[in-house]
Formats: sequence, structure tokens, C-alpha cells
Amino acid sequence: MNIADLLEFIDASPSPWHVVATVSKRLEPLGFKVLTETSPWSLEPGGNYLLCRDGSVAAVMVGTEPFQHSGAKLIGAHTDSPGFRIKPKPLSLQDGYLRLAVEVYGGPTLATFSDRDLSLAGRISYQQGSTIKNRLVRIDQPLLRLANLPIHLNRGVNSDGLKFDLQNELPLMFANSDESKLENNRFTGWLAEQAELECESIKAFELAVYDTQKGALWGMNNEFYSDSQIDNLACCHAALTALAETCQVTSKQTRVSILFDHEEIGSQTAEGADGRFFSDVMQAIAGNPTPEQLRQGMARSFLISADMAHAYHPNFANYYEAEHKVIVNQGPVIKSHAKRRYATDSLASAWFSHWCEQAGVPVQQYSHRGDLPCGSTIGPISAAKLGIRTVDVGSPMWAMHSARESAGVLDHDYLIKAFTAFYQDNDFLASL
Ligand code: CO
Repeated sequence: MNIADLLEFIDASPSPWHVVATVSKRLEPLGFKVLTETSPWSLEPGGNYLLCRDGSVAAVMVGTEPFQHSGAKLIGAHTDSPGFRIKPKPLSLQDGYLRLAVEVYGGPTLATFSDRDLSLAGRISYQQGSTIKNRLVRIDQPLLRLANLPIHLNRGVNSDGLKFDLQNELPLMFANSDESKLENNRFTGWLAEQAELECESIKAFELAVYDTQKGALWGMNNEFYSDSQIDNLACCHAALTALAETCQVTSKQTRVSILFDHEEIGSQTAEGADGRFFSDVMQAIAGNPTPEQLRQGMARSFLISADMAHAYHPNFANYYEAEHKVIVNQGPVIKSHAKRRYATDSLASAWFSHWCEQAGVPVQQYSHRGDLPCGSTIGPISAAKLGIRTVDVGSPMWAMHSARESAGVLDHDYLIKAFTAFYQDNDFLASL
């Protein structure tokens, strides 16, 4: 069942670096070969490859025809989710407690992270001989807490909302301590034990705070599911599942799932959608192209930018555009915006509707209210950088950027079917 597999995928991937590891673990047995950054990215026709850069990964099934003639069919999504990251010197000792200092990553709904069973996952950079290596680390049990103030001390909480001061009220409770002095390397020492490393070898770390509660089905007929990171691991999973489903059949066109880190903080990093990674991958696919060959191949390519969409919620009816309510379990959503916060144009929208039709999947249209600022995706950034025709789509979900998000079981199947139809369609280039 796709939804059980999605929840497993999410629970195995508590940080962007874990997402990349999960992708490798799933695709390597299917014949995808990992190419490291320092090895040549020379891709053979018909070959399957994984190209990785830190928290970003591209799964590429190379077509049998030159890129210039057939282009590529791409689905893009993001591996990161909003939340907290641990500061480099995180420990503070105060009034008998040890707390960990955090920075806010992206735009989480802060209050939803309170009173949850949080823990740590990420990567440690450590010295081995004369080199520095990375090791993934994940603490599996509840470890940290953003304990809320009781209502008896915060009488206005239900009328004024639950607010947290970013500097003073976010440090996470970590331990009791009866010591009066804090040793600087105490956290590193603890981390070394968890990761089975020597304390002195740890030079730096990047640690995300994640919610240890596993994904679950809910609703009268189990028609909904909840988990952390549904935005955007549901789209990553749908893209990879569709890719895996079509991987036994070689195609003249190259098929790609490309998953980027750093979407939630603006994408402007080496591995982000606004960095070099995407164009490096396209160069590798095109194989030493002339600028003219690259342009022609791009013109024959198509990108589905997959990111979750805001489902209509009847408790908050006024926040939605009346004629563009998208309903959970009624199919993938095409997102459009005149100022191109979504990259969709009419041709791209029509193509995506066509693939939904081919797959027997319903499709919905989303437009943001005119009086609310609209979010964005990797779609417009990638379209602008590469000149690829792009459609912005996603499944409807509730509570985007909450610690615990929700969406529809049927929608996940629909999205996979639509993506599979896209990867299987060998005719669409003819009419571009
Ligand atoms: Co997103």
C-alpha cells in the first residue's frame, strides 16, 4: 500500500541528509548507481544513476536518445522541512536545568512544536586521519521538549494565541543538572557517545529537531493520514515511487526525480534549487552539450514542480478563494499565480491535466486569495534558471508547516498515478 510505504519513508528520514540516504537505500537495489561529486558524471544511455550533493539528490534514468532530441521529464521536490536546528554551542545551564539553544529553520508554526516528543537527527563532521568525514546520527527516542506554559500562568492563551519569543522562549529542555558550571564540550561528549565517535574527533555538526511520533492513519474510514514533514516528503516519495514503477522499461527520454534541500530557506545554496546543482545535473544528462544543443534539449523538457497544496478547511472558510477550494482526497492540485509565485503556464497546466486524465485521476485548481501573500516553490526558480516549461502541482493538505501535518490517503495514490502517466508518456514532446 502506497500510504504505508510513505509513512515508512518519512519516518526513516528525519533530516534532509537522511532523506538522501533513504533514497539511495531504496534505489540502489533497483540498479541505480551512486556517482560521487568528485567522480566523472558521465552517464550512459539506458543507465540509472544517483547524483548527490549533501541534502539534495537526483535520480536519473538516462534515455536512449540524445538529450538534444528528446529532452528530459523531470519531477522536482524538496527534502527539507521547517522546524528547529541546534546552535553550534547549544548548552545553557540555568536554575538546575540544561537546555539546548535552537535557531528557527524556515517558517514553522512554532506553537505546534510545543509539548511534543522531540529528538535530534542530522550529521556530524569528524576528523579521520588527515581528512574530515560526515556521519549521520539519529537519536531514536524522545529527548527534548518545548514545554508550554500552563494556562494558569498564561490566561490569555486561548484568545491571544500561543506565542513564543524567538530568543528566550525556544531553548529546548534537555536535562536536570545540579552542577553550577558548564563545560563547553559536554554536549559534544554526549553526542560522541551517541554516534560512537571519539569526542576530540567531532569538529562540527548540523542537527535538526524532529518529532519522534510515527505517522498514522485517521478518520472514520482511515481516509486521512498525519505525520511530520508531509510537506514535502509526500511529493518526494510520489516522484520516486513513480520513477521506480517505470524503471524496468527503457525510454528514449531521460526521466528524473530531483529533490532539493534548502527550499524552506530560499533555495540559494550550492545544493538548493537556486544553486549550481540543478544545472550541473542537466549538463551531465546532456553530456558535454554545445549551448545550442542544451537549449534545444531544455525546450523539449518538462518539469513538474511538486510541492504540497493548501486544502480547504471549512472551519476557516474565509481564508480561501471561493471558487478554488481544493478538497482532500479529490486529486492533485494545479497551482497557478499571475505573478508567477507558481511557475504554471497554460500549456503546462493543460499537459498536467492530460496526464491526470490518462491516469484516470481527478484534478483540482488552486488560486490564492488576492489579499494574502502567496508562498512559492522550487518551480519558478528552476524555470527561470533553466528555461524549462514547468507546472506547479501537489496534493492537498491541512496544517502545512505544523509539527504534525495531515493529508488524504487517496490523494497520495492519485499523485503517484499522475506522475507515472507523465513518466510513461512518450508522445508529449512532439507537440512542443
Ligand atoms: Co513545501
